[in-house]
Amino acid sequence: MDEDARVADADDVPEGETLLFTVRDGDGELAEAFCTRLSDGTVVAYRNYCQHWTDVRLDKGDGARVTNGEVWCQKHGATFQLDTGVCDFGPCEGSVMESVDVTVADGGVYLNDEEYALEHLGPSGVDEGDGGDSRIDFTGN
Ligand code: FES
Repeated sequence: MDEDARVADADDVPEGETLLFTVRDGDGELAEAFCTRLSDGTVVAYRNYCQHWTDVRLDKGDGARVTNGEVWCQKHGATFQLDTGVCDFGPCEGSVMESVDVTVADGGVYLNDEEYALEHLGPSGVDEGDGGDSRIDFTGN
């Protein structure tokens, strides 16, 4: 495998938590993604934004909220199934998170998605906001 595409050691990808990493897309723009381990041991990865308000990050740099195989958006409480990416509750119910292809090999997790090149482990440093500071949602938050 291409060591430049190695996201992390496979043992460092947690179940019940997210591991944030940064990629560069075909336009040269930085974008965030996170990987996590499913209960069956499979490692999956998704772009790090909510399908409701796409400028809201699911993992704000200290891990997304994950329970029962679902990642939560902390803005309005949408939940996304980590095995399928499908939102099964919340304002964007029925939408699907954008998946990022990764492969586990040689004890590591490798980015294996022709749309992206690995930049580094951790946040992009580009957009650290939660996308909602300038707007008020229906709960007043
Ligand atoms: S921004 Fe994620 S549920 Fe509204």
